[in-house]
Amino acid sequence: MTDIAHSTVPPVPPECKTTGVVTVPQPLITARGVNVFYGDKRALKDVSIDIANNQVLAMIGPSGCGKSTFLRCFNRMNDTIDGARVTGLLQLEGQDIYEKRQDVVQLRARIGMVFQKPNPFPKSIYDNVAYGPRIHGLAADRIELDEIVQTSLKRAGLWEEVKDRLAAPGTSLSGGQQQRLCIARTIAVNPEVILMDEPCSALDPIATARIEDLIDELRASYAIIIVTHSMQQAARVSQRTAYFHLGDLIEVGETDRIFTNPRHKLTEDYITGRFG
Ligand SMILES: Nc1ncnc2c1ncn2[C@@H]1O[C@H](COP(=O)(O)OP(=O)(O)OP(=O)(O)O)[C@@H](O)[C@H]1O
Ligand SMILES: [Mg+2]
Repeated sequence: MTDIAHSTVPPVPPECKTTGVVTVPQPLITARGVNVFYGDKRALKDVSIDIANNQVLAMIGPSGCGKSTFLRCFNRMNDTIDGARVTGLLQLEGQDIYEKRQDVVQLRARIGMVFQKPNPFPKSIYDNVAYGPRIHGLAADRIELDEIVQTSLKRAGLWEEVKDRLAAPGTSLSGGQQQRLCIARTIAVNPEVILMDEPCSALDPIATARIEDLIDELRASYAIIIVTHSMQQAARVSQRTAYFHLGDLIEVGETDRIFTNPRHKLTEDYITGRFG
């Protein structure tokens, strides 16, 4: 991020309900006063947060508190939902994510997303990973494309399992392998940020552990935002945790601090299982 871009980042609005540390040095993404409405219903309320590079941010909170809604703001996936409206400011490296001229396809390459249910395309393993680099013109020829596919599958920890069956359908893989394929597909276009919405909820503990190890490796190269219902997972994989409640960002801070010394009673009730 340039100094100029950094200097244009606005301060956290005083009405923001967030407590604790919200700013980080040199944030990759800043959100300020973000609201999301579905028709008349306000699902997210004045949320302000910074996203740092090379860090995992976990977003936790009870069902319906707005985690997925907020995650979808970062790469404008809410644009695809009828009646959804986003207000406030979201910037990626100082650039307004919601600017009219913003090319949404480019944006989603820079801010990739992995969903709860693995969703490989109905194509071969190779073509799943090659899809993005092809549409973005990232490879000059087949040799370069092969390299990108191989590197992405290696980084996603899947290469050894699929190298002899690249022409097989992506859907022929196990659930955990499919999720790693989806991660390979996401990283094949060189994103800066990876959004993950409960990426392990359809996986068994062994596949989950593999994805968690992978998240830890990937953070060396990317900013990662993960929504999870598992407090253990948030504690294992993230460096910062944000707790949401009924559309409010209640508290955000270092993961260790949030889990050992939450500042807000709502956070404490949730992490100690007293919520509800
Ligand atoms: N497409 C939609 N249309 C209308 N309302 C929606 C839509 N998606 C979400 N909502 C509402 O917005 C609020 C936040 O939902 P969201 O899915 O973001 O919660 P969440 O924290 O991800 O929950 P969960 O943990 O169950 O996935 C809820 O009240 C939900 O009913
Ligand atoms: Mg959700």
